[in-house]
Amino acid sequence: MRAVDIIEKKRDGLELSGDEIRYFIDGFTRGDLPDYQAAAFLMAVFLCGMTRSETVDLTLAMAHSGEMLDLSDITDYAVDKHSSGGVGDKTTLVVLPLVAACGVPVAKMSGRGLGFSGGTLDKLESIRGFRVDLSADEFRALARKNGIVLAGQSMALAPADGKLYALRDVTATVPSLPLIASSIMSKKIAAGANGIVLDVKMGRGAFMATLDDARELAKIMVEIGADAGRDVVAIISDMNQPLGEAVGNALEVAEAVETLRGEGPVDLREHCLAIAGHMLRLAGRGQRFTDAGEARALLEQQISSGAALASFRLMIEAQGGDAAMVDDTSKLPQASIQQPYTAAQSGYIAQVDALAIARAAFELGAGREKKGDPIDPAVGVKVHVKVGSPVGAGDALVTLYASDERKLQAAVSSLDQAFAFSAEPVEALPLFYDVISSR
Ligand code: URA
Repeated sequence: MRAVDIIEKKRDGLELSGDEIRYFIDGFTRGDLPDYQAAAFLMAVFLCGMTRSETVDLTLAMAHSGEMLDLSDITDYAVDKHSSGGVGDKTTLVVLPLVAACGVPVAKMSGRGLGFSGGTLDKLESIRGFRVDLSADEFRALARKNGIVLAGQSMALAPADGKLYALRDVTATVPSLPLIASSIMSKKIAAGANGIVLDVKMGRGAFMATLDDARELAKIMVEIGADAGRDVVAIISDMNQPLGEAVGNALEVAEAVETLRGEGPVDLREHCLAIAGHMLRLAGRGQRFTDAGEARALLEQQISSGAALASFRLMIEAQGGDAAMVDDTSKLPQASIQQPYTAAQSGYIAQVDALAIARAAFELGAGREKKGDPIDPAVGVKVHVKVGSPVGAGDALVTLYASDERKLQAAVSSLDQAFAFSAEPVEALPLFYDVISSR
């Protein structure tokens, strides 16, 4: 077999065999195939697409390109969640302790933020001392002891994805359905999940701008999971406006803690209860948590009893974090400047553009342009309105949390693009659009 023949076949729109895909991915992972051939392969996939069976073969080849995590000594059925990335998306921080408090172990690997999308690891690192770089032994030991652990994606898992993603980033081949689907699913499969809840974001602040595209991505990932013997539920959720109010690392941790206390924004709470409910139902495998109403009541009980917050605190302490910052979120990093951004007119909010809001947080220093750049944990924004909110001229739409006047001005310019007003009442946006399931 020769790599050039595989590239040529894909370039001409023909279907690759499993052997050809495995040959290419294995060779590239080992370093036997050069980046320029992988880049040509990626562009051929980008332009010609892939069939379902090619996408499954690609996913499994990437999943098996490194170690496969086996969690069977910790639980006989591991559940995981993944978000396709959004603005203000601190769901994992709330959902993991909620599910763990119900007695379902969660051992999750998460990523860092790049560009306008935030990363769970960066958010958690705003808690002093919190360690995300756990060894495999520590990861397993904490999962077994506490039923909750959250670490950085191990380099040993799905290394083909890491190498391919770096090439996609610089060859304009990121927004391809089979490449995104195989990238996400290979990591979930390698991380040992039996049941996976996918939160597929749709809208201005998401990879998928339209409902049709989001549905297609969700469907492909559910199909990959089914063919790989995993149970997958994909929920298509709104990302036209930010989730919750806070966008920025420490601000999002504080909001997650408030939500675990039963005090956070309603949309974030509802979103988290829904995702956690699907995780419980998968974990119950038709034996437990079968009634959606009962599962929700059980989750709500974990919030009102303080059990979910206690589970979050346990995870923070176990990984070296300063739990005093959980008990009192005013101890989290604080920005030196707080400034309101006000409505220039009265009316109803017709748009809160998630991308413009993310750009404002980025301008303040909450995100990174390239891998390894430092971020400022204290800065960000809190958005006080949703689509449909009535506002008066001069009302605060946003509070900016900044550490630098110059950056503050750049963030204000981004916010100038974020809002639209209507004289007529505007309907609120739905939280969810669809649920696609392999069962
Ligand atoms: N998230 C991933 O892990 N991979 C992609 O390709 C896109 C989003």
